[in-house]
Amino acid sequence: MEVKVLRHPYIQAVLTELRDKNTEQIEFRKSLVRLGRAFGFEIIKDFETEKVVVETPLGVQAEGVRIKDVDKVVIVTVLRAAWPMTEGLIKIFPNAKQGIISAKRVEEKGMDKEMRFDVDVEYVRIPHIRNDEIVLIVDPMVATASTMETVLNVLMRYGKAKQYIIVSAITTPIAIKRLEKISKELNINLKLYTASIDPEVNDKGYIVPGLGDAGDRAFGGA
Ligand code: URA
Repeated sequence: MEVKVLRHPYIQAVLTELRDKNTEQIEFRKSLVRLGRAFGFEIIKDFETEKVVVETPLGVQAEGVRIKDVDKVVIVTVLRAAWPMTEGLIKIFPNAKQGIISAKRVEEKGMDKEMRFDVDVEYVRIPHIRNDEIVLIVDPMVATASTMETVLNVLMRYGKAKQYIIVSAITTPIAIKRLEKISKELNINLKLYTASIDPEVNDKGYIVPGLGDAGDRAFGGA
C-alpha cells in the first residue's frame, strides 16, 4: 500500500487550523471543506493525462491535456465526519458517482486489547463499482482502522475497483500497518493520502495530538 503524506504548505496550514482547539465549529467545518478540495488537487496530480488539441476562438489550435480517469471516480463518504471533505472533493471530481456508509465505532464498549473497536454499520448506499473505476473513501480520522476495515469489507460486495484511495486528514502508524494487511487479504490496490501520520492513539481511541472528535467539532456536538 502506498502512503502519501501531503506536505503542501496550504494543506499543512489548514490542518493546523483544524488542530487548534480555538477553531470554532463553522470555521472547522469550512477548513475540512478546504482540505477536501486541496486533497482533490493532490490526488489528481497522480492521475494519467493525455494530450489533446483544441481550437481557440481565434481559430488557432492549442495543445492541452485531459485527465484520463477523472470521470471514473466514485466518492464514498463515511458518515458523518467525512461529509465536509467530500464537499471539497466534489469540486475537483464533479462527475463522481457517490456512495454513503454510516459506520460508527462503538466507543462506549471501548477498544479490545489489540486496539480494535466494534463497528456499527447503520446505513449503506453504494453504487455498483466497475473494475475501471477509482474509489475515494473519505474519512478524516483513521485512528485504529477499525472503521476503515469494516468499510472496505462492505465495499467488496459492490464490485472491485481498479484502485481504492483513502482520503484522511490524520492517520497513525497502527492504522497504516493494519490497512497494509487488509489490502493484501482483500487483494486490492489501496493507496492512502493523508496530511499527517500522528504518533499514537490514546486509550479512548483518539489520535494524539490529533484534533479531537472531527464529527463533534464540525457539526456542533454529538
Ligand atoms: N475520530 C475522531 O474524530 N478523532 C479521533 O481522534 C479518532 C477518531
